[in-house]
Amino acid sequence: MKGIIFNLLEHAVIKAHGPKTWKALVTQTGLARPYAAAGNYPDSEMIQFVGAAAHLLNTSVADVLRWFGREAISHLSTRYSHFFAPHKSTSTFMLTINDAIHADVRKIYPDADLPTFDFLESTPNRVVLAYRSARRLCALAEGFIAGAASHFGEDATIVHPTCMLRGDDRCVLECTFEPRRGGERGA
Ligand code: HEM
Repeated sequence: MKGIIFNLLEHAVIKAHGPKTWKALVTQTGLARPYAAAGNYPDSEMIQFVGAAAHLLNTSVADVLRWFGREAISHLSTRYSHFFAPHKSTSTFMLTINDAIHADVRKIYPDADLPTFDFLESTPNRVVLAYRSARRLCALAEGFIAGAASHFGEDATIVHPTCMLRGDDRCVLECTFEPRRGGERGA
């Protein structure tokens, strides 16, 4: 897993819970090393951090991943605004994950290990996609999608009828978007 993902987690935890909470996670995991954005680190270290956060915050690993995905997108939408700027809605943005966003990520980090998304259905307010990754981080994908929706001033409802964590060969995410009540654009 790329160091940038660890950096995003640290940033999100400090922003929401303060530096003491991040320090507590570092102490609990014993993972005090610096994470360079372009470096590659064992997936197990990310799982350790997320597991420690779930324990500390008295919630589930899936909820921590969903929360982290939302926060990470908010940060990425500022840092990589050119991926978001051409779009007015979550659905058209999402269709660019493979061929524009993650393709560019691979140019920056040639050894990145990126997930595969197959788009099964897409209309202006609904995208059905299949997620495949040996990491089985579908909750993180849900968080990324919810975060993107927030960026575009939409609420996402995500139904997850097929899941690798339940033994299926891929996760299917049925995503429906509607204008957020109040209508303000998010991050
Ligand atoms: C809705 C939009 C997006 C979704 C659903 C998504 C999904 C994911 C998921 C689930 C992973 C975890 C790796 C795995 O599952 O195997 C991942 C990794 C990653 N994504 Fe995305 N992503 C999105 C947008 C972005 C954006 C905007 C960027 C940055 C510009 C980005 C950069 C990365 C990077 C750097 C990794 C780490 C790859 C590695 O560790 O080797 N993603 N993405």
